[in-house]
Amino acid sequence: MQELMLDKVHDESRQGEAFAANITNSKQFNKHFYIESYGCAMNFADSEVVASILQDGNIGATTDIEKADLILINTCSIREKAEERIRKRLTEFRRLKKQHPSLIIGILGCMAERLKENLLEEEKLVDIVVGPDAYRSLPQLIEEATTGQKAVNVLLSRDETYADISPIRLNSNGINAFVSIMRGCNNMCSFCVVPFTRGRERSRSAESIIAECETLFKEGYREVTLLGQNVDSYHWINDNTNDVVNFAQLLEKVAIISPLLRVRFSTSHPKDITDEVLFTIKKYDNICNYIHLPVQSGSSRVLQMMNRTYSREWYIAKVNRIREILPDCGLSTDMITGFCTETEEEHQESLSLMEYCQYDLAYMYFYSERPGTLAARRFTDDIPLDVKKRRLQEMVDLYRIHSLQSMQRDVGKTYKVLIEGVSKKNEEELHGRNDQNKVVVFPKMNFKKGEYVTVKINACTAGTLIGTAII
Ligand code: SAM
Ligand code: SF4
Ligand code: F3S
Repeated sequence: MQELMLDKVHDESRQGEAFAANITNSKQFNKHFYIESYGCAMNFADSEVVASILQDGNIGATTDIEKADLILINTCSIREKAEERIRKRLTEFRRLKKQHPSLIIGILGCMAERLKENLLEEEKLVDIVVGPDAYRSLPQLIEEATTGQKAVNVLLSRDETYADISPIRLNSNGINAFVSIMRGCNNMCSFCVVPFTRGRERSRSAESIIAECETLFKEGYREVTLLGQNVDSYHWINDNTNDVVNFAQLLEKVAIISPLLRVRFSTSHPKDITDEVLFTIKKYDNICNYIHLPVQSGSSRVLQMMNRTYSREWYIAKVNRIREILPDCGLSTDMITGFCTETEEEHQESLSLMEYCQYDLAYMYFYSERPGTLAARRFTDDIPLDVKKRRLQEMVDLYRIHSLQSMQRDVGKTYKVLIEGVSKKNEEELHGRNDQNKVVVFPKMNFKKGEYVTVKINACTAGTLIGTAII
């Protein structure tokens, strides 16, 4: 076990989901594209921007790879394993191209940005290479590739936010939607490739975010998740008025669209989340009581090497503050085991921090050195793989105890649940999530997707609360 996949929003190990556009118009397109997305929620949101750009260029989405004129793969570089998976998939696409030589294969996203022309010239795996800030050039690149030219655009931008593009929702349930509020990252966590693949941090205009959320609400969506690598550093200046909007203010602006629109966000950096954000969550019932607050390690020395800019004590004080202001808040984290020079004692510190925080959800990984990162340049990746994996397993075992206890504590309580659809396991049941982001299933009765319902929890499994609706 090296990764734990439990949640759709934060889990960047999601892989290979093929999406068709959730559109009902019968417009006939000249060509069709098939897209697979890997990585974090931001990549999935980007694929929806790409779908919109392509549709404007008269290329429609299909989930049938056999019908596609163009295959796109939106990629992730966060760990070596993520890239290995994508290479394997590209080799499979290559085989398809042998059968259909006119097929165009394009790589998008973080791996495209990291490996640039190499993928096209040396490895000859793809026809098009496009980095995360260059999606507007896709129609032109497709034209170039069709005529056999080299089609690469990996320019990073300081201001591209795709603010004016209305994403085409892919494979959507019509209830939950991702809304990108910023791009890039200015934090230089030493293990992380994201600042190199996504470029400098920039915030999208508050007006365009609110307009997108309002449209989603009118279309029947009932939950938006505001996305950024570090949402708490959202900072947008209105050029006309010089007014500044920070993340707490943005949250409020989205929350007041309607009390029926739930608002979530991801990811928060412990150094940046403010009391103002916490009090804004407290003020509005529709801003969910759930914070993803990645810690990465429980050792202050390791945190310093990771360049996380906080200590164990500082993080604990932040968690205490969250619990003080928002006593019912769900809390989740990311953890890395076996970072350079990590000792057994320091690993134990990570476990004891988890014991203290009692996370409802945790994503845990063993350290994977990424070329070009600060850690790769400065430190030796000196923890043997078997040790990294053993530490990870110990962490996962501990986390499982905590998460089960967290589920068990909810039995007997009642929650407001937003219904997201019919349960996959039983057609007579519906599923949704509570404020704290836990999945709840309950008998269907006359309830429908998109409605809110109060559910009394009677039992639980490790990942699901089981209840009955209170009428
Ligand atoms: N921006 C978020 C943050 O600051 O926590 C998330 C960044 S990243 C997309 C998601 C998670 O991947 C990180 O929190 C970290 O736990 C993990 N990660 C990043 N680089 C890694 C690496 N080189 N090896 C293992 N895990 C890594
Ligand atoms: Fe990577 Fe750190 Fe930025 Fe998160 S905050 S994306 S871990 S550099
Ligand atoms: Fe992966 Fe890029 Fe997201 S590296 S985690 S897809 S920002």
